[in-house]
Amino acid sequence: MAEGSVPAGSRAGGSVGSVAEREQLDPIDVAVTPSRRVLVTGASGFIGSHLLPRLVSRGHRVRAMWRGREGPGRESAPGVEWLEADVTRPDTLARATFECDVVVHLAGCSSSESGVGLEPVNVAGTRNVLLAALEAKVGRFVYVSALGASPAAGPYSRSRFEAEDAVMSSGIEYVILRPCVVYGPSDHFVTAIVRLLRRLPVFPMLGDGTFRLQPLAVEDMVDALTQCVERADVEGGLYEIAGPDRISFTTIVRTIGEVAGCRRPILPLPDGVASQATRLARKAGFPTPITRDQLDVLRWGSVLSGADNPLRTVFRVKPLPFRDALEDYLETESDDTDRVEGYSEGGA
Ligand SMILES: NC(=O)c1ccc[n+]([C@@H]2O[C@H](COP(=O)([O-])OP(=O)(O)OC[C@H]3O[C@@H](n4cnc5c(N)ncnc54)[C@H](OP(=O)(O)O)[C@@H]3O)[C@@H](O)[C@H]2O)c1
Repeated sequence: MAEGSVPAGSRAGGSVGSVAEREQLDPIDVAVTPSRRVLVTGASGFIGSHLLPRLVSRGHRVRAMWRGREGPGRESAPGVEWLEADVTRPDTLARATFECDVVVHLAGCSSSESGVGLEPVNVAGTRNVLLAALEAKVGRFVYVSALGASPAAGPYSRSRFEAEDAVMSSGIEYVILRPCVVYGPSDHFVTAIVRLLRRLPVFPMLGDGTFRLQPLAVEDMVDALTQCVERADVEGGLYEIAGPDRISFTTIVRTIGEVAGCRRPILPLPDGVASQATRLARKAGFPTPITRDQLDVLRWGSVLSGADNPLRTVFRVKPLPFRDALEDYLETESDDTDRVEGYSEGGA
């Protein structure tokens, strides 16, 4: 491999990662920018907790933005500079972007029930960070949107679509990733499903459970994000990325039940009841795997729109099969699920 090239599927500092004998795709041979000053917004959250140690291990100088609320990211990476700021408060952002080469924008909201709203955080908040980045002459803006972002699939999806628009029309150099649901240690999705399976005699299924997803292992997400920071040639791209399995939500729940050793009968709830149940559960402080707003997206389908998965073709990462990744980390984390939150107020 040439100096400066990226090892395909490189997993330094990874945490799902001991899925040891993963087949690797051919290495890619592209220009990689060395050590950069990277601002990560939403750094205290789930994806941030996996991204920070990876960026540090790659030699980047990382500034992590948070709002003073503890999350898994806070414990994940020594050697990171933490800075308190809020994307809804432009006056706090200049310090955050100061002297940065790259912004990785993870801060986001996935529920209109959070009391803050999707538009102020996802759309206006993204604009605020963009403006601060432009002022600071940041060289690249990496935005994590969501698979299914569209003006027509409900408020959550629309907010993602509008934020993408803001990024693309800002004049800044950008890369946008649209991941499917991301899972791994400290996530909101698998953890909440395990918790429901453990606590309830039946699993309340949202709708008929036939909608399909392509869950993406956080390690694969972090591989792609790291390359978005480092590789010159991915600039200007909007990449949908997802795991290798196109599976129904019912299959996901069954697989998790099998791997975690807590199989339960599945009780389908009609759509209206499912939405209300999700809202009530969240109000009662019982985190759910997906928010009511995300349910809108799932009804539209949350799988790659084409046959191509840029995770493989662009980022040269062979995505981890869902069951393999689960078997790897649920074995070690299974007793820990009560510690970890699913989607609750303000979660992504
Ligand atoms: N995980 C997935 O399956 C998935 C899939 C597709 C897209 N995404 C998107 O990817 C991003 C990261 O996901 P994640 O799973 O890591 O989410 P997460 O764990 O909920 O983290 C979201 C982060 O955003 C921060 N945030 C929220 N409002 C903010 C504000 N006003 N100012 C500054 N920070 C704010 C949160 O800080 P606080 O802790 O202070 O609230 C938190 O650190 C999110 O935008 C999410 O919507 C995630």
